[in-house]
Amino acid sequence: MRPIALDIQTLSKTYKAGHHALRGISLQIPRGEIFALLGPNGAGKTTLIGIACGLVNATSGSVHIEGHNVASEFRTARKLVGLVPQELTTEAFETVQAAVAHSRGLFGLQPDPAKLEQVLRSLALWDRRDTRVSQLSGGMKRRVLIAKALVHEPRVLFLDEPSAGVDVELRRDIWNVVRGLRDQGVTILLTTHYIEEAEQIADRVGVIHKGELVLVEETHSLIRRMGQRQLVLRLMSPLQQLPAALAPWAPTLAADGMTLHCNFSQDISGAETAQLLQILSSAAIAVRDLQTQQSSLEEIFVQLVQSKS
Ligand SMILES: Nc1ncnc2c1ncn2[C@@H]1O[C@H](COP(=O)(O)OP(=O)(O)OP(=O)(O)O)[C@@H](O)[C@H]1O
Ligand SMILES: [Mg+2]
Repeated sequence: MRPIALDIQTLSKTYKAGHHALRGISLQIPRGEIFALLGPNGAGKTTLIGIACGLVNATSGSVHIEGHNVASEFRTARKLVGLVPQELTTEAFETVQAAVAHSRGLFGLQPDPAKLEQVLRSLALWDRRDTRVSQLSGGMKRRVLIAKALVHEPRVLFLDEPSAGVDVELRRDIWNVVRGLRDQGVTILLTTHYIEEAEQIADRVGVIHKGELVLVEETHSLIRRMGQRQLVLRLMSPLQQLPAALAPWAPTLAADGMTLHCNFSQDISGAETAQLLQILSSAAIAVRDLQTQQSSLEEIFVQLVQSKS
């Protein structure tokens, strides 16, 4: 068993106005895992991250970072944490290099020019190091925020929607940086509205909805378990009526009668496909081609959140 890097126990948060943003969340993340927290707007993702970084007080429950309580051992825990916030906030008048170096200093670390250069290069900021942050585009400002969170070498990194409004190249850079950190044993919790991304990068995903964690599962097993597989058959000529023998696959026929969708709940086995084709053949239905489709994490997520609301 890998040690637990982030330990959240029955965490609740009620804001002053009485809004219950988190309702008894428990979650353990082992060291070196990439965990993606998914959830609709207002679900409580940023609140959870704020508490885990010691920036927001919990109403009840606890968070430990590498064994340190973020409330009672704030200073120790804070040094272990890197945060890329959802909102763009940067010291506008500093240069890129100064802003990032300053962030390292805030954590009481000695200047380290080699580390600084490595971080700036990994985010394609090295050539812009003497530019004032205020003169950068939104995407470049986000690169600076990421650099600031990395330069003090955190053990647990929180990325709150790092890819919101960024271009393809920056998104790719972010994921390369994230994977590189994970390989060094850094633990990463990120939020994203791009579910396809979570599917590609996260070891596990959690779905938060109205302040409750409604699901935590390995990304691939979630897709296997909840994902429907479909066999899509394009026919040689329009079909008037579906053969009754296809009923177990809950078939649907496109309006033009030329495309047939059959549902498989698990992996499509060769034997099952052969059986289905046999039924079509004995009903004298000729198939032009066939392909398999699998529902994405995105479809699973939408189903989950809809079924809960
Ligand atoms: N400082 C605050 N005071 C009062 N209510 C707040 C405060 N911050 C957040 N909330 C409320 O708590 C709930 C959760 O907000 P939070 O920002 O954590 O959601 P989120 O999942 O990060 O959403 P998004 O995807 O839009 O970023 C929302 O209903 C929000 O209005
Ligand atoms: Mg948020």
